[in-house]
Amino acid sequence: MNIHELDMLERARNFRETGMTSLLFPVGELLGVVEKGYRELLKEKWFVGNPWSFDLSPEHNDPDDGLIVREGALIDGNIMDKKIFFHFRPRLISLLRKRGVDYAPYAEWLLHCAELYNICVRTQNEFAKALDTVFPGRHFYDMVRDEAAQDMHVLRLLCYSENGGAKDHQDRSLWTIHMSQTSGHTPLHLGEDRVEYLSTPETALMFAGKKIAQHTGASFNVRKNMFDGGMIPAVTHGVSVREAIHDPSIKIVQEKRVAIVFFGHVIGSLPGKN
Ligand SMILES: [Fe+2]
Repeated sequence: MNIHELDMLERARNFRETGMTSLLFPVGELLGVVEKGYRELLKEKWFVGNPWSFDLSPEHNDPDDGLIVREGALIDGNIMDKKIFFHFRPRLISLLRKRGVDYAPYAEWLLHCAELYNICVRTQNEFAKALDTVFPGRHFYDMVRDEAAQDMHVLRLLCYSENGGAKDHQDRSLWTIHMSQTSGHTPLHLGEDRVEYLSTPETALMFAGKKIAQHTGASFNVRKNMFDGGMIPAVTHGVSVREAIHDPSIKIVQEKRVAIVFFGHVIGSLPGKN
């Protein structure tokens, strides 16, 4: 076993005990490029009719691709929304091509998204292998490599409105790799103790989602829309905005905060809502 594998084993052990761990994730430059392209895309004026949005199976909770706008309004072509996100899976490029969307100005950016997506998949595979060692009999590696599951893993770029954050929730993923949040002033709050986590350029945070809790014996609490317990419990987390970055004069999307996360999935449905 090499030093990298030993390190991963230690992190997997940590994750098994607490539901979260940091990961060495030296992709700072790539994150910057991915974020920049996303901000460019959000500046586009042709969002009415949003050709970058693919809702492939509306009855399913997870598989939206492209640029997703929810509960929002468009004003002068700018999105003034509470919830905007971009989902990248490798199939997006062919979806755009088949629809006849002129994505040429973004072709290079999409390849950078693909690169980041692939790094995340590689990391999660290594992590799943390590977790199989410290938590035998659960077959995490096989589950995330399952063909159907591979269609579900997704790189999500989030854009928060100027006073928006995220209420406490658990992710619907198996696990989440939280890579970066611009501004750096807005910590994630994690767990019951609401531990603050601020992203750094060379590390990522990995934490447990609902699917791993369900897989390890947690019970679903309908009232809270969360899982309780489980050998690896889902990590409740939220994002709250500090006054320091709240500037009511900021109305344009490109000034909003961007976060980059990757959701690893396994097949199977979850109770509750998004
Ligand atoms: Fe989340």
